Amino acid sequence: MNEYEKLLLQNKSWVSDKTDLDKDYFKNLADIQKPEFLWIGCSDSRVPANEITNTEPGEIFVHRNIANLVVNTDLNMLSVLKYAVEVLKVKHVIVCGHYGCGGVKAAITNHHFGLLNKWLRNIKDVYRLHNYALNKIENIEDKTDALVELNIIEQVNNLVKTSIVQKAWHNNQSLMLHGCVYGLKNGILIDLIKVDKNTPIDPLYQFDFDNTIED
Ligand code: CO
Repeated sequence: MNEYEKLLLQNKSWVSDKTDLDKDYFKNLADIQKPEFLWIGCSDSRVPANEITNTEPGEIFVHRNIANLVVNTDLNMLSVLKYAVEVLKVKHVIVCGHYGCGGVKAAITNHHFGLLNKWLRNIKDVYRLHNYALNKIENIEDKTDALVELNIIEQVNNLVKTSIVQKAWHNNQSLMLHGCVYGLKNGILIDLIKVDKNTPIDPLYQFDFDNTIED
């Protein structure tokens, strides 16, 4: 049996575990999707949204990419955000990074990663914003973890800059943005930043919705 066939078998045992406890488990799940959270996390296999928050299917709408970035030209992320905010009406958007992130670490180096360079450039730009503080940290692990935290905060700021989030706030929709960091070595999530509609937005990034036809 190969690894993939083993996965399919494990799926069958998971189904029976769930239905043993509640025979309508899947029927109830299939009937409605009403998650309260959108999770924007790192693709790293060690940071699965449901497991680390002890939640069930149906509770978290998830988008993951390398180093949990919110890039304003990323149609994939923007589509997920728009659907989550405007259709599912999630109440919280969470950007979750993690210490020891390989993407963040790679961005600090000068290695050439081919296509990946274009994605990692976004993290280098975060470094440049904070280079005065980061340059003082000599240990590469400590420098990575400091940039991991700054990157999470920057990605939450990037969410604020989207018309999707600003429009929700303009319409008085209940929507809070959070940034948190996960510790691979202890499993703990630490809250770093919270932004809601009362948090001031840099005027340069504010949209005037009274004169907007379509977003
Ligand atoms: Co990562």
